[in-house]
Amino acid sequence: MSSVVVITGSAGLIGSEAVRHFAGLGMDVVGVDNDMRGYFFGADGSTKWNLQRLTKEVGERYTHHSLDIRDREGLDELFARLGKNVGLVIHAAAQPSHDWAAREPFTDFDVNAVGTINMLEATRRHAIDAPFIFTSTNKVYGDTPNSLPLIELPTRWELPEDHKWYGGIDETMSIDSSMHSVFGASKVAADVMVQEYGRYFDMPTAVFRGGTLTGPGHSAAELHGFLAYVMRCVMEQRLYRIFGYKGKMVRDAIHSHDLVSAFEAFHRAPRVAEIYNIGGGRFSNCSHIEAFKIASEITGLEARTEYVEENRAGDHQWWISSTARFEEHYPEWKLTYDVPAILREIYESNKDLWKA
Ligand SMILES: NC(=O)c1ccc[n+]([C@@H]2O[C@H](COP(=O)([O-])OP(=O)(O)OC[C@H]3O[C@@H](n4cnc5c(N)ncnc54)[C@H](O)[C@@H]3O)[C@@H](O)[C@H]2O)c1
Repeated sequence: MSSVVVITGSAGLIGSEAVRHFAGLGMDVVGVDNDMRGYFFGADGSTKWNLQRLTKEVGERYTHHSLDIRDREGLDELFARLGKNVGLVIHAAAQPSHDWAAREPFTDFDVNAVGTINMLEATRRHAIDAPFIFTSTNKVYGDTPNSLPLIELPTRWELPEDHKWYGGIDETMSIDSSMHSVFGASKVAADVMVQEYGRYFDMPTAVFRGGTLTGPGHSAAELHGFLAYVMRCVMEQRLYRIFGYKGKMVRDAIHSHDLVSAFEAFHRAPRVAEIYNIGGGRFSNCSHIEAFKIASEITGLEARTEYVEENRAGDHQWWISSTARFEEHYPEWKLTYDVPAILREIYESNKDLWKA
């Protein structure tokens, strides 16, 4: 009977991919998204276009609720109505930007931290057995990754090959004693609360600490959405401002499809209070310089970039995730997209939309 999946942030990058994926598996999807991304980032950031696309594609398997996750009673009523039919919860609604969080710390905390406990409590009260998946972030490690002994290569910063985290940073990195940014701190609060609902109430919860999540569902905006915004700027010949680290800062990138297939693996064999670093790892990573080179090769256009000396507060100079823990628990899961494949797909799916 538990055939309903509740997905918050359902019009966003990860939420929309999850809607398509689980609807495709024959589940009924209840989406919660109030297009607050439009409020955060302006017209470029609005996810209305994605919701329209989604509703058309998925049809009657999808029901949308323009509900705010800060609305505790509203969520409780929704879960009370759905009750034990809820077989899975994917909580992906968030305020996702460092820079924005510092503008309105209360709003950031209310959405990211309080919104998460609202979701946890509604799940506990009405569907306690449903696996609860939370999209956290590697920013919970604050700026600790910046103390790694990086070396400078022609196009990127890199760890020495004999370093224990050369293959990727794992979950044993401390989340304490570092600067997280206001956003990182609100995500830590949510991350720890999701773990706590797992341990304390014995709920099947999982925290996925993503790095750069990307894919065609991204509403690219300057302050958020790295590869989509790189591609959009090249295609529209917009100026891209690179903040710090000589354009050599390294990100691993995971396609929304690969992330959501990890969610499916967890859904099929849930565990309690898990944390997983999740990202493209050594298979899929790049620096700004490398990303622009690939984007230029795909589009045949030169990038227009401007270098700003000062990096963003809390930005990682180098981040590659170790997915070893997840792969140990779910050996059937595999990454399928690397950076060139991700950029090519963003290009293909937006070439009628983004023009110079
Ligand atoms: N995209 C990344 O690179 C990245 C990296 C690490 C972690 N994450 C995390 O993954 C999750 C999903 O990210 P995304 O890239 O899909 O974000 P997104 O901004 O594309 O989607 C989030 C959606 O949530 C909605 N939303 C925001 N506030 C809401 C509210 N109060 N009530 C209801 N809906 C609301 C937005 O309108 C948006 O459609 C977030 O938790 C984010 O912090 C993302």
